[in-house]
Amino acid sequence: MLKGNVALITGGSRGIGAAIAKKYAALGADIAIVYAGNAQAAEEVCRACEALGVQARAYRCNVADFEECKRAVAAVKGDFGTVDILVNNAGIAKDGMLAMMSKDAFDQVVDTNLKGAFHMIRHCAPLFIRARKGCIVNISSVSGLMGNAGQCNYAASKAGLIGLTKAVARELAPRNIRCNAIAPGFIQTDMTAALSDAPLVQAIPLGTMGAPEDVADAAAYLAMAKYVTGEVLRVDGGLAM
Ligand code: NAI
Repeated sequence: MLKGNVALITGGSRGIGAAIAKKYAALGADIAIVYAGNAQAAEEVCRACEALGVQARAYRCNVADFEECKRAVAAVKGDFGTVDILVNNAGIAKDGMLAMMSKDAFDQVVDTNLKGAFHMIRHCAPLFIRARKGCIVNISSVSGLMGNAGQCNYAASKAGLIGLTKAVARELAPRNIRCNAIAPGFIQTDMTAALSDAPLVQAIPLGTMGAPEDVADAAAYLAMAKYVTGEVLRVDGGLAM
């Protein structure tokens, strides 16, 4: 159902990004993975996608760097011809209480999570505009909807991503380019490995943490939902309702 599309997924070497890459590959999209440092993990995801019958390549790029993003998008265009779907999934957390938080911890999280998405959208937009179609999926968080003590940097970056999503959706809708966000709750990945269970899980109405594949299912829906734009889709077991 995504056959003939090229999907660029940032942070695609593990966790939620890897699950989205494999889901999109299973639906027939060719896959371009942007990864920060672990080339071997990125290559393994590419091989798994190829086993599903599509083309896949990995590109090393720090999404916090505007020029690196420009080069990565140009490289993907060179290899695949274009980008049809952009998933801004790369993200980091550097949690700490406000009174103790360093300027660096705030800057790094905003630079990666929020500005990283802007960089990739900025460089993919000309391709979308030329093709008169495009789809952007930004991975936000329930932290961006509800706030979370100890995460003022992360919550600000993820709330900013929702504003970015809606502004881009309005600006590019006349050009047939859609932009949506997903707000995952607690999903079992490396990022949340330290959290595991107890009080957090008890607060989730459905009673368990989610799997990366649950977010990938939502990303697949948004890639295909041609009348949906500017939406924030929670995938959180009911946590933020
Ligand atoms: P993860 O830590 O397993 O994966 C994050 C990916 O982003 C990694 O592949 C990492 O290499 C990449 N990345 C980080 N900084 C980068 C940079 N500067 N340039 C390029 N790539 C970079 O985390 P997970 O859990 O898979 O998270 C994926 C996204 O989902 C993140 O944006 C995260 O904030 C968001 N999220 C995760 C939740 C969870 O419970 N796991 C909940 C809500 C949102």
